[in-house]
Amino acid sequence: MIEKGKISQEPFIEILKTLEEAESSNLVDWNAMNIASVDQSNQPSSRMVLLKKISDEGLVFYTNYNSRKGKEIKLNPKVAVNFWWRELKKQIRVEGHIEKASKEDSDNYFNSRPLKSRVSAIISNQSSIIPSYEDLTKQIDNYLDHNDKSSIKRPDHCGLYIVIPNAVEFWQEQDNRTHERLKYILEDSQKWSSHLLSP
Ligand SMILES: Cc1cc2nc3c(=O)[nH]c(=O)nc-3n(C[C@H](O)[C@H](O)[C@H](O)COP(=O)(O)O)c2cc1C
Repeated sequence: MIEKGKISQEPFIEILKTLEEAESSNLVDWNAMNIASVDQSNQPSSRMVLLKKISDEGLVFYTNYNSRKGKEIKLNPKVAVNFWWRELKKQIRVEGHIEKASKEDSDNYFNSRPLKSRVSAIISNQSSIIPSYEDLTKQIDNYLDHNDKSSIKRPDHCGLYIVIPNAVEFWQEQDNRTHERLKYILEDSQKWSSHLLSP
């Protein structure tokens, strides 16, 4: 399940349509997307995350703001996102920039998570070197032993990000390599234009 906000812009309507097709086809991790960022030396890196919400504002996912991706995004908010569903023979490519979601939205999402996930998010310094996973589990158990469940609050380093697109491309596999590509670009006028691209 993902949350759906107000959606009126054409590329977002099309993204949602495809997501709903993937969900109703019972595809595993139908809301998984790859997100790429770049570091200070322009080295790109990418990883999978799960889409949590879509609206005209953008694509929302949850992570650790101090992780590798978080640090890279802070220096350079430009990102690229890729969805691929083998069974649907479809790919969606998104380019744009990232902003943090509101604290309220991040709090609401954090509070909806299971207890151990919340504690794990508090304890884990995502992307940092650790001595062992045993050590991490011990820290989580120790935290649970010494803290009242009702006092567990979202730490500042965890929250939602919104990917705000300025380009979206829909790719549909066709026979004989005549794949269809439809690319939307957000013009300076803030209107979307669309073009077909050669496969
Ligand atoms: C299918 C899948 C979904 C994932 N979803 C998330 C997610 O929603 N948020 C997240 O922070 N990491 C998620 N991860 C883990 C990330 O891929 C990655 O390991 C982690 O965010 C650290 O990345 P970084 O070191 O580049 O910041 C997911 C991994 C997989 C394979």
